[in-house]
Amino acid sequence: MRIVFLAPEVWPFNRVGGLAEVAHELPLALGALGHEVAVVTPKPRLEAGLAADLEKLDITLEVPVSWKRHRAQVFRQDAGPGVANYLLGHEHLFDREGLYGNAYGDYEDNAERFIFYSRACLELARVMGWTVDVFHANDWTTGLVPVYLQSLYAEEPLFAQTASLMTIHNLGKQGLFWHYDMPLTGLGWEYFTPEAMEFYGQINFLKGGLVFADMISTVSQHYAQEILTPEMGLGLEGVLQRRQERLAAVINGLDYQSWDPAGDPLLAANFSVDDPGPKAQCRRDLAAVLGLEPEAPRPIAAVVGRLVDRKGLDLISAAAQDIFDLGLDLAVMGFGEDHYHVRLKELQKRHPGRLGVHIGYETELAHRIMAGSDLLLMPSLYEPCGLHQMQALRYGAGPVVRATGGLDDTVINHHAGRPGTGFKFEPYEVPAMLEALQKALAAYAEPEQWQGIMARGMAQDFSWQAAAPRYVEIYQRARQLAAERRSA
Ligand code: GLC
Repeated sequence: MRIVFLAPEVWPFNRVGGLAEVAHELPLALGALGHEVAVVTPKPRLEAGLAADLEKLDITLEVPVSWKRHRAQVFRQDAGPGVANYLLGHEHLFDREGLYGNAYGDYEDNAERFIFYSRACLELARVMGWTVDVFHANDWTTGLVPVYLQSLYAEEPLFAQTASLMTIHNLGKQGLFWHYDMPLTGLGWEYFTPEAMEFYGQINFLKGGLVFADMISTVSQHYAQEILTPEMGLGLEGVLQRRQERLAAVINGLDYQSWDPAGDPLLAANFSVDDPGPKAQCRRDLAAVLGLEPEAPRPIAAVVGRLVDRKGLDLISAAAQDIFDLGLDLAVMGFGEDHYHVRLKELQKRHPGRLGVHIGYETELAHRIMAGSDLLLMPSLYEPCGLHQMQALRYGAGPVVRATGGLDDTVINHHAGRPGTGFKFEPYEVPAMLEALQKALAAYAEPEQWQGIMARGMAQDFSWQAAAPRYVEIYQRARQLAAERRSA
């Protein structure tokens, strides 16, 4: 199949969250199955090293956005067998510090930016002469692509057999814009209806994708069920319920080649299920890097990810004192809301040696944190899939998570004599979180029990080799449904 994979964040060019890894690793796994994948993404501001790797193609795209014609340059890079990355160069719209916004909030021209991006993907396919089997759209920024395929591009001969898949990585971001932006989309007002893209008086890009895509998917079974409920559907549960028979769930994978504690060159020492001993050296390495007390007898809990409410930072921040009182040290890495950066720095001053903080996201440091930590704390309010719990499992750091979405699907609760891989709690409340941490610490105090938890976690297998064939099935189903739609 020829697949065009659309994501605004693609590792290593741009990363805000786990979508970036998915947009890198899933295409490679599809390529390995013999499919041809073009990953199309806006070209962000790049370091010289990454930019040097790109080949500038001899074409200029003309992308209509309302009455304007945006011109885009196209850069290409081979990503692996069958897979190429295409970066759309538009300095004015995408050569910026952040992808979605900056310290002051979302960019005010996001509607225009992502309309440009969505149409540019379709224009690129057209100019390149690709007979596309599937456009795989990811999250709100690409939600217009399924709409365009059935409107402005419905007569395009290259797309005569083309289907679309809309994958939800986070329903919390929907791409809401005021109705004055409607003309920018190039779509008529007949699309500004509750049956199409209208949402409480606004335009909703993701809703457009959900209404018009041939198939919909999300990144864990549990999240697929949650988003059908009024509590978690965030206003889109009705659309999702109506199209429920088209909603599939595929859990994301982890790249086990780079996340392999036995061979990881980024670690101070390598370890494995059979030889966990050297993890102690990784622990010393982590303590040194983040300024934790070197030989403390206390376990270290990692907190990695965006430092925002949604990831449970409000709980962690409120419970910091209790967490230290329980006898845990914390290793925190991430970037997010400014007040959390300030708060963490403050806590660090008050509890020297107990809290290590790195503001920012560095892949290399993520490896060292997981390897050096004993636990991972991930109390997300909701979590479509989650990546760091899979890394933690692989690196022998027992996850303590809220039982939601992908966290619930990937962590087996260790309780009442039932051997698990981590600890889960339900209510989004400090006491419930502390209770789970307490249980984890009790298990940690018994080396034999803890070794069992570690060993079971390290043996879990969430690989793209399992996930990619599932996507192929979904693409095939989408093509079948698209054919039925066209003949109807
Ligand atoms: C989003 C979700 C996260 C998921 C990732 C990749 O960042 O919040 O749970 O792992 O997308 O699908």
